[in-house]
Amino acid sequence: MRRTLVIGNWKMNGSKEANANLVSAIVAEAGSVTDTDMALCPSFVYLSDIAKAVEGTNVSVGSQDVSVHLEGAYTGEVSASMLLDCSCKYAIVGHSERRQYHGESNLLVAQKALTAYKSGLTAVICLGETLSERESGQVEAIIGEQLQAVQSVMGADAIAKSVIAYEPVWAIGTGLTATPEQAQEVHQFIRSRLSVNAEKVSILYGGSVKSANAAELFAQKDIDGALVGGASLNAKEFIGIAAAG
Ligand code: PGA
Repeated sequence: MRRTLVIGNWKMNGSKEANANLVSAIVAEAGSVTDTDMALCPSFVYLSDIAKAVEGTNVSVGSQDVSVHLEGAYTGEVSASMLLDCSCKYAIVGHSERRQYHGESNLLVAQKALTAYKSGLTAVICLGETLSERESGQVEAIIGEQLQAVQSVMGADAIAKSVIAYEPVWAIGTGLTATPEQAQEVHQFIRSRLSVNAEKVSILYGGSVKSANAAELFAQKDIDGALVGGASLNAKEFIGIAAAG
């Protein structure tokens, strides 16, 4: 049985004050959520603050990215060991905004996932197609290619210990959610491509998830939770999504 996992991706939002308010409102309600694992991914600079605020609760912390390099002269990068030092459990890799605005290739994403895994973080590996790719019938080809890159670099055993997030690019921040059936179809496809412990791997859905649509998404056989952007900036919404698990 896969436990539901709901991860909040705060992206480049927040401030010390806003984060303190948000995390305390989440923590105040988190105890009532018993069937879902939860994690918050603030900007790197606030990781320690948030880690401290969730200490001793059922909420974990993760990063939005990780360097492929282990240490050294890589200005601006943040290593996996630094993330562990800040109490991170998860590291999101290959978010579509990193792929799109920072030119991250399938290979780099796969290498980051491997670095995260080898360092002891749980990689949350994002996959997703654009609207034009969907409209031209390439969903499985694109997702298959993104996944294949991760499989070749990481190997099946390491993927089995990671989390996958299917995030159709056209559904991110747009208010357009994939229908539960559309999402399930891709989740099932992804699971069918996993060769080790396929039934145990958590495959999250991301793209305009809200408390109002979470339950029907989570009711799908292969949807094991959500990677939540906009709605994770609202404590009531985030807890509402987690409570739907
Ligand atoms: P959204 O973002 O929930 O705002 O659509 C999801 C994500 O980018 O992870």
